[in-house]
Amino acid sequence: MLTQIDASADKIWGSAGSISDEHGFRDLAPTTDAQWEELRAATITLVEAPNLLIQEGRPVARPGGRIQDQGLEGVAPPDQIQKALISDRPAFLQHAQRLQTVAGEILSAVDRRDAAALEKKGAELDEACEACHQRFWYPPKPK
Ligand code: HEC
Repeated sequence: MLTQIDASADKIWGSAGSISDEHGFRDLAPTTDAQWEELRAATITLVEAPNLLIQEGRPVARPGGRIQDQGLEGVAPPDQIQKALISDRPAFLQHAQRLQTVAGEILSAVDRRDAAALEKKGAELDEACEACHQRFWYPPKPK
């Protein structure tokens, strides 16, 4: 999740839209062939990642390992996440599929070097991550 999904998504978000900071206002979209190629490689990782994510028996954490934000209020401990992944596998598969679909659309945008589409799909990517996390990583408390 961290090394593949998070790292590639950061690369995409870092290439989508524009920012205004102490260096002024600038577009984030790649400007050179090399930058587009680098972005394309990260996007392909993200297209492939859901195939690994849905491997049966994928451990949420190494035995005794920790995940980000563990212990914070609302964050499910790894064993609870693991149970939910098994008991609600159809939902997990659906969220993983959604991630793969959006990543595929981002790949098309990158291939067309379409910065506007990249920005739009970048926002959808964020939603795809969040939808799954709300169910499995930091589920809302039952009312
Ligand atoms: C299909 C479900 C799903 C999708 C989609 C998903 N995640 Fe996750 N994510 C999880 C689960 C479950 C965890 C809890 C730890 C684990 O299982 O690896 C997690 C944990 C994480 C963590 C903490 C990892 C750690 O080991 O501390 C990060 C960072 C993260 N996700 C980023 C992302 C980003 C960025 C995206 C979208 C590009 C994304 N995730 C999409 C299910 C998903």
